[in-house]
Amino acid sequence: MKRSVDAAKNRATKAMGRREFLLAALGTSGLASSYLRRQVSSLRASTALSPAIDTTSSSETVKELVTPNIDFFIRNHFRIPTISEEKWHLEIGGMVAKPLKLSYSDLLLTSSVRRPLTLECAGNLSGGGGVSTAVWSGLPLEALLKQAGVQAGATTVVFHGADSGEGEGVPQGTHFARAIPMEKAMDPTTVLAYEMNGAPLPPEHGFPLRALVSGWYGMDSVKWLTRIEISREPFKGYFQQELYVAVKSNGERQTITRMRVNSKFLRPLTDEEILVKAYRIEGIAWAGENKVSKVELRFDGNGAWRPAVLGASPVALVWTPWSYAWSVPHPGPYTLEVRATDDEGNAQPMVRDPDRKDDYELNASRRISVNVRW
Ligand code: MTE
Repeated sequence: MKRSVDAAKNRATKAMGRREFLLAALGTSGLASSYLRRQVSSLRASTALSPAIDTTSSSETVKELVTPNIDFFIRNHFRIPTISEEKWHLEIGGMVAKPLKLSYSDLLLTSSVRRPLTLECAGNLSGGGGVSTAVWSGLPLEALLKQAGVQAGATTVVFHGADSGEGEGVPQGTHFARAIPMEKAMDPTTVLAYEMNGAPLPPEHGFPLRALVSGWYGMDSVKWLTRIEISREPFKGYFQQELYVAVKSNGERQTITRMRVNSKFLRPLTDEEILVKAYRIEGIAWAGENKVSKVELRFDGNGAWRPAVLGASPVALVWTPWSYAWSVPHPGPYTLEVRATDDEGNAQPMVRDPDRKDDYELNASRRISVNVRW
């Protein structure tokens, strides 16, 4: 895959420093928090003293918040499509006054936004690796839809990906496509991204362009975008109607959308052996469009839930690191349990809803076993 070199991309490929990340979180996303503001002003001061701060400072905050591209989870239904950057176009059509056809360089030259965002797969297991965070650059979908002139009465925005094939029971010839409601498409946090952590999107994450439907499970963030179709009909695609649907035992079906509050341990990991008497338990929590309001831990399935310390003032759409200083009372086996609650009071359930017949939105509280030995 040939990539043309231009000034915009050179700028983009530069490794992202701590200050850039924090400014991005503040400036372009509206995810402002007093914590980030404090960090930015302290960085401004230190940058004046040391111009090298962006590349040399190893900030725990950034390390905890951003997943390097190489470690970012991948979920593909089909093979990665081969896309020539020169031939590729994005079309916007359907119920619009002026259909658009844009090239890769058209997009790169359009005014861009940069924002951190946590993506979680709807099928991520409790404590699983199907959740990651990157800083993405691209353009708000709203700007393109306004340019195209959405006609009155349009309700649905369908993202079409270039990938198709068989496998996992998918009918032959089906391509990946998902729809979101117009209201979410017009939300300024819904973005078409061409960069991930300052580099052009890697092929496995959707080069040259992907949707990012912030705060919703990953299936709507369609990769290898080729066409955006505006309509007034509910979308009947395979991935809309057969997969990514919540199914109840009475047969009721509802499409999966917003991410639910969830959390996981980063350390210790399950079955880890702990050899010290004071141990810093660490993890992350996230709540989609909501903010994490508290994270609590419980030991051996009984006793009171104890509050963990949140690492940064939580913001919507981005995971929050948390920690707990554990004074280990005695050696032996322990069960550690974590649960997060969001700012609407939704807590992770203790067990999976027995009425659910599908395998999505698995956000029951996470339990792990560890052994302490002195
Ligand atoms: N887009 C296309 N075109 N094809 C896919 O298979 N998988 C979806 C979504 N977008 C998918 C897609 C799913 S289920 C998830 S969870 C996210 O992409 C994963 O994005 P990632 O692989 O960049 O982490």
